[in-house]
Amino acid sequence: MTALPTSRAVAVIGSGAMGSGIAQVAAAAGYTVKLFDTRPEAVAKAIAGVIGMFNKLVEKERMSAADAAAAGARLQAAVTLADVADAGLVVEAIVENLDAKRALFTELETIVGDDCILATNTSSISVTAIGAPLRLPQRLAGMHFFNPVPLMALVEVVSGLATDAAVAATVFDTAAVWGKSPVHAKSTPGFIVNRVARPFYAEGWRLLNEQAADAATIDAVLREAGGFRMGPFELMDLIGHDVNFSVTQSVFQAYFNDPRFTPSVQQLELVNAGFLGRKSGRGCYPYGEGAAVPQP
Ligand code: NAI
Repeated sequence: MTALPTSRAVAVIGSGAMGSGIAQVAAAAGYTVKLFDTRPEAVAKAIAGVIGMFNKLVEKERMSAADAAAAGARLQAAVTLADVADAGLVVEAIVENLDAKRALFTELETIVGDDCILATNTSSISVTAIGAPLRLPQRLAGMHFFNPVPLMALVEVVSGLATDAAVAATVFDTAAVWGKSPVHAKSTPGFIVNRVARPFYAEGWRLLNEQAADAATIDAVLREAGGFRMGPFELMDLIGHDVNFSVTQSVFQAYFNDPRFTPSVQQLELVNAGFLGRKSGRGCYPYGEGAAVPQP
């Protein structure tokens, strides 16, 4: 077993939907977690949200009050990136953009120790490409969680061409200690799940274009007859259309514009409008108070 010892802190960079979920599972597993975001208000919201989740688990008698208090106390706000200097593992969950991720990891290498493992939660970008400009590219691996992180067991542990096998093994074992079911994957576009899932979304958009049925009907059919947990439109609303569109675009480009992976212009319009899904209160469906359509 080569999991990160709980004496080492975990840094989570990017405190949005995924970062807060990752912080929750790491803190619950006994690690000190330092959260950083370029928007400090996102860190405050994430910490308050995770503590709220721990309190709900206490109410449901799935966590003791003492454990919840201890786990909540392990969450720390990093005011600057320099505050994560002592981390043994950094998990990046910022915007799905190669240049942004490279810039972050390059800066992190000037801050953390040489024994610190760097992990990216990228959904689809080549781990090899993210690591290429690093001084020690062998210490970078993908640690791809699924949304919502506390509920979804799977973690894809993604090795780029330069990733050290021992680094991938530590990320794998650490995910297992966090209560997850990790699998090893290679750095192919979309890895395993997001590659297999592309046609699920793409065919949903095509059916909508062809007016075969409306989004709610397609979702209901997939959920009720198909045995899927969610249909494509409600799932994209959960993931966020900005994230989902970026992933499709990245897989499309990585496969040299293979038409099978063509992004949806309708989805691009949702992104342009800021209708990103649940997180913005509107996507394929409206959310929150006054929503006219039943929530999926
Ligand atoms: P989000 O939009 O909820 O959160 C991203 C956060 O990163 C924001 O709070 C933003 O302020 C912050 N940020 C942006 N650039 C930054 C930088 N340079 N330094 C520090 N913070 C920065 O996005 P979400 O959904 O949490 O996704 C994050 C990553 O996780 C993306 O790479 C995405 O592809 C991946 N992912 C997303 C999944 C999903 O279902 N939403 C599932 C699995 C992976």
